[in-house]
Amino acid sequence: MYIISSAADIKQKAEQIRRSGKTIGLVPTMGALHEGHLHLLRTAAQENDIAVCSIFVNPTQFNNADDFDLYPRVIEVDAALLTENKCEVLFAPAVSEMYPEALQLKFDFGPLETVMEGRFRPGHFTGVAAVVSKLFHLVKPHKAYFGQKDLQQYAIIRRLVTDLSFDLELVCHPIVREPDGLAMSSRNRRLSGPERQVATHLYKALQLARDLMANKPVPEIRTAVTDYLKQYESIKLEYFEIADAHTLQPLTSVAPKTTVALCLAAFVGEVRLIDNLVVS
Ligand code: PAF
Repeated sequence: MYIISSAADIKQKAEQIRRSGKTIGLVPTMGALHEGHLHLLRTAAQENDIAVCSIFVNPTQFNNADDFDLYPRVIEVDAALLTENKCEVLFAPAVSEMYPEALQLKFDFGPLETVMEGRFRPGHFTGVAAVVSKLFHLVKPHKAYFGQKDLQQYAIIRRLVTDLSFDLELVCHPIVREPDGLAMSSRNRRLSGPERQVATHLYKALQLARDLMANKPVPEIRTAVTDYLKQYESIKLEYFEIADAHTLQPLTSVAPKTTVALCLAAFVGEVRLIDNLVVS
């Protein structure tokens, strides 16, 4: 596996791959890789000639300095996992490579950005859109792979690709869960043993909401989920939304045949986790 840290070098490598007629599949990550990432990577390797993974803890998408500082960084372990999972190029730049100058550009994704993650993490999606645009320019992928756990992020990136005419195909993969249902996340490794146990109730709350959808109105489902999670002292629910899965706008009632996204964010102890369930 080639390990590249300079923006100029990854650009050159990508151009060389493209000139040789090969296709590139990119899996952008912030590292601390788990099975969800590796699943994306194996798919990228199957569907393209060359799988490229980027590992970059992107400072511009963190609106909380502690969250940025505490984000797990285990590049050597990650590099070994990537080699085992058919990654041919790892791009792991320093902040100065990605941001030689402080970012001035601001994105505005309209209503998509005023709900859920956009509402609770101001500026987050500008950081995501900036870094993903930079990665697309540098790595020039034919296909780019993202996970459904970050459902709103995926919707934002879809918009970015459409609005800026990026010439690539986006692929979104279903959430990969632990056997007890907890959505895989790099942040899970920051949970203590008891927090890790209690975190399983986030998915259980989403399952409860899904089951209630058959015969309860939206406000009652909201209350049921809030009450369910209130039982656990270490869980602080930030939001639970019943949203249209395409627009991500909150619904006050669900019309027949609507595909619904049940989405939540909560702190378990000090660790902020998100999860979602898409119900047709
Ligand atoms: O989902 C992530 O890991 C990050 O938000 C991404 C897409 C790699 C951008 O930094």
